[in-house]
Amino acid sequence: MKVISVVGARPQFVKLAPIDHAFKARGIEHIIVHTGQHYDPEMSESFFSELNISPANYNLGVGSGSHSEQTASMMVGLEKIFQEIAPDWVLVFGDTNSTLAAALAAVKIHVKIAHLEAGLRSFNRKMPEEHNRILTDHASDLLLAPTPLAMEHLGNEGLAAKSLMVGDVMTDVCLNTLAKNRESAPALPVEFEAAGVTRELLASGEYFVATIHRAENTDDPARLTEIVKSLQSLPLPVVLMTHPRLASKSAALGLTLSQGAVKSVKSVSYPVMVDLVSNSRGVITDSGGLQKEAYILQAPCTTIRTETEWPETLHDGWNILSPDVHDLAKLVMRARPTQPTGHPYGDGKASYRVADALTAQ
Ligand code: UD1
Repeated sequence: MKVISVVGARPQFVKLAPIDHAFKARGIEHIIVHTGQHYDPEMSESFFSELNISPANYNLGVGSGSHSEQTASMMVGLEKIFQEIAPDWVLVFGDTNSTLAAALAAVKIHVKIAHLEAGLRSFNRKMPEEHNRILTDHASDLLLAPTPLAMEHLGNEGLAAKSLMVGDVMTDVCLNTLAKNRESAPALPVEFEAAGVTRELLASGEYFVATIHRAENTDDPARLTEIVKSLQSLPLPVVLMTHPRLASKSAALGLTLSQGAVKSVKSVSYPVMVDLVSNSRGVITDSGGLQKEAYILQAPCTTIRTETEWPETLHDGWNILSPDVHDLAKLVMRARPTQPTGHPYGDGKASYRVADALTAQ
């Protein structure tokens, strides 16, 4: 059986790792197409090498652009590859423009599509990701859902018959990486030293990990300035893993990120991210995936957004939603939740269930 996985953005490389390993174990012929949506080495190649993912068979090199430019040029390249390979399945991941492009290209030429991480909803129609996930779910032939709540959303949209709960593949890779880190901690990038992010800081646990990259937080100058200033005024050091979009938007405003509490570093490899989060006092983010990783790694999270696709993380205050950053210091210094996190995201074996579901159809 031949499956084409289409990936393009950082979180998709992470989800691809356990899938690639499970497909190998099950003897599935796996063809990887990288759209090139993310192209900086630390946003792309580092994940393939650190997570031991087979190299991409194709790279469309589309790069950045408006939503339509990016999606359309991916579709043109993907259609040719799907026709040439004639796979049994195209597997798409999550909710990025690469996901939607692959789903649209495949459905038009009657190639079967499986959507991994199906059924997530933010109910915020301002987010490009919300459109990407809804349209992809409705175009797909098989919906692989991570949680019972995702299954419920799919049922509400009349998609129950195509849906299967497999668990969350990010849990597979997160738990695996944590176990490996415990055997031997990953080397910290050289630039960390100059930024003051040392092994001693990690060992102390007295710091926060932050990421900010969503358009609603980065693209309005007043909003971005307010968020950066509140991070800088926190009472503990803040290791800010800086997405290229945050770097370019803040540079354009003349905003220096590394000031006050903030220690800005480039995007880091997955093992280093897991190391940073698992040792930290807490996480501050607007990322979807990182909220869930914080929960799995038992780091309290403060999310700079109005809603979450992963509401299970809100249990006992492990994650708190706060688009308002005025009281950020009070929120992030809150007492650690006392109730255990539980395992709403599965047992770390979701990728094998995906392989089995594709083979069975
Ligand atoms: C995309 C996804 C988002 C996901 C995020 C993870 C969509 C609509 N959004 O957002 O769901 O959470 O990836 O990181 O697909 N850039 C670079 N180098 C890169 C990549 C991006 O400099 O390697 C800069 C460019 O200025 C680009 C901007 O970042 O215009 C935004 O990149 P893009 O891929 O369009 O969206 P993300 O914000 O990364």
